[in-house]
Amino acid sequence: TTPAATVTVTGAAGQIGYATVFRAAAGALLGPATPVRLRLLEVPQAARAAEGVAMELLDGAFPLLASVDVFDDPAAAFEGSEVGLLIGAKPRSQGMERADLLSANAGIFSVQGRAINDGAADSFRAVVVGNPANTNALIAASHAPDVPAERFTALTRLDHHRAEAQLAIACDVSVNDVDGIAIWGNHSASQYVDLTRATVQGRPAEEVLAERGLDRQWIDDFFIPKVAKRGAEIIRVRGGSSVASAAHAALRHVRTWLRGTDEGRWTSMAVPSTGAHGIPEGVVSSFPVTCSQGGYAIVEPWAVDEFSRARIDRSVAELLAEREAVAELGLLGPRA
Ligand code: NAI
Repeated sequence: TTPAATVTVTGAAGQIGYATVFRAAAGALLGPATPVRLRLLEVPQAARAAEGVAMELLDGAFPLLASVDVFDDPAAAFEGSEVGLLIGAKPRSQGMERADLLSANAGIFSVQGRAINDGAADSFRAVVVGNPANTNALIAASHAPDVPAERFTALTRLDHHRAEAQLAIACDVSVNDVDGIAIWGNHSASQYVDLTRATVQGRPAEEVLAERGLDRQWIDDFFIPKVAKRGAEIIRVRGGSSVASAAHAALRHVRTWLRGTDEGRWTSMAVPSTGAHGIPEGVVSSFPVTCSQGGYAIVEPWAVDEFSRARIDRSVAELLAEREAVAELGLLGPRA
């Protein structure tokens, strides 16, 4: 059998953490052939609750669960870690300024970046789920100079899934008939949901939408905001933020990264920019990417039209502003 993989989950007693660990133990992260050692990290006040999660994991008698341990010390939690699901973060509380949110999270992600730098396995890869996810990934990477920066990614797979589902609904087809969507920029309301390369049953999505009377104006006024503001809509309707769908997306993000995208297809991940598509190097932006053999590649630049360019640039401007705010606060690490 395959040796067990060591996976660190932060915020493990939180909502998304709780939804993630059981599916990881059931094989949704690494496949049905790879046992998993779970290392659950929480803040000291929630460590007892995390112990309860660990007890329930044991109660699942998951054949793939090789071990489960609980930590309130990041250095210990990341010792030997191969995959980091960085879910725990400081939420924005009432009256909190953006700078306060950035600095509170910078505190968390700088400490975790250093712990990863010092203790994680050489193969370590991370997906940051905790918001502001892109900038949190940037901060962690900046504090882990010995780990290749490209191993720090952030989650926009949920946005990608939301866009696939909404396009399928608009065209009255199955999600299996939809392909080629790209999410660009920040995991925030500024993200650009790009349908210019998307297809529906192999035909250009914009053509299929046009046949239904849905033009670019509709894409701009309805479709893009529908996806970008879906999180707020879920809160309104469900009475709580997205949890199971976020956990699912985080699991798929890592699984795709490790196992690869299907031939001729891509997904969306927020990754440190190589400068591709005119997005400044180093900023953690969502891109269309292909994955193979445990690596990913940003999809080759294409001639982005003016419509897309303006929307990509707007979201990237927000990312640059976040990076600058964090840098001004002196919160970036030695790599920056
Ligand atoms: P939650 O508040 O239920 O859980 C967060 C957990 O993280 C708490 O148990 C807390 O104690 C823990 N935590 C805080 N600081 C920590 C630290 N330094 N080390 C370890 N654990 C720590 O929140 P929920 O609903 O699970 O969401 C988690 C994060 O995911 C939030 O930041 C949320 O905004 C974000 N999110 C991101 C999405 C994405 O697509 N990128 C989608 C949905 C949520």
